[in-house]
Amino acid sequence: MPDPGTGTEVTLSTRRLLIEPLRTGDAPELYAVLRDPRIYAFLPEDPPPSVDVLRSRFERWTRGPERPAREVWINWTVRTRAEGKAVGTLQATIFPTEARALIAYVLSPDLWGQGYAQEGVRALVDWLFSRQGIRHVEALVDRRNDRSLRLLHRLGFEHVGTEVKADHFKGGWSDEHRLSLSLARWNATSPSSG
Ligand SMILES: CC(C)(COP(=O)(O)OP(=O)(O)OC[C@H]1O[C@@H](n2cnc3c(N)ncnc32)[C@H](O)[C@@H]1OP(=O)(O)O)[C@@H](O)C(=O)NCCC(=O)NCCS
Repeated sequence: MPDPGTGTEVTLSTRRLLIEPLRTGDAPELYAVLRDPRIYAFLPEDPPPSVDVLRSRFERWTRGPERPAREVWINWTVRTRAEGKAVGTLQATIFPTEARALIAYVLSPDLWGQGYAQEGVRALVDWLFSRQGIRHVEALVDRRNDRSLRLLHRLGFEHVGTEVKADHFKGGWSDEHRLSLSLARWNATSPSSG
């Protein structure tokens, strides 16, 4: 595998996926994926209503946060290697002074249950630990989001807390689990990425 380097504009590569820096020009392709309502069952967001709205969202993401010294946003488009087709997104918010990163991930429902998301998230976590000096990777997950919780547990993440009634959307309360994976645990438990 080519060396992914330490900058944040990197392409990560796994057996079945190419994980490339997200471009605003990816909006039409990703709209076809992200418009699927199944993705949003346990997320506060709704499907983007149009390609233009999604493009504006991507522009905001790629401009980055208002205080870049405190947090860094990195977004990727996930593509299948076989067809080059966009099938999802990965996100990392890095808090450099805390050596901590928060991750998020979305995969096309057409590909759920085949290990693609786990493959992509594993590569992301590996890169955060090995190239970005991160010591803790975290994720915030709705208590009902079994697929996401299974994915994280398979990678070694541990439940560290729950905010009850963290949010209210789609007619119900969302209890939010916080899961965390330390560098030490990753080194002790993970096979090499890819
Ligand atoms: C969360 C999400 C990315 C998980 O996708 P997924 O495809 O279920 O996750 P994985 O890639 O880990 O796939 C795991 C499944 O593939 C199966 N699998 C098949 N081949 C596999 C392989 N080669 N490697 C690993 N798992 C494989 C596993 O057995 C597992 O099956 P199970 O669901 O019956 O337990 C997806 O549901 C999603 O995009 N949800 C909407 C957005 C969202 O909620 N994001 C998270 C916010 S916190």
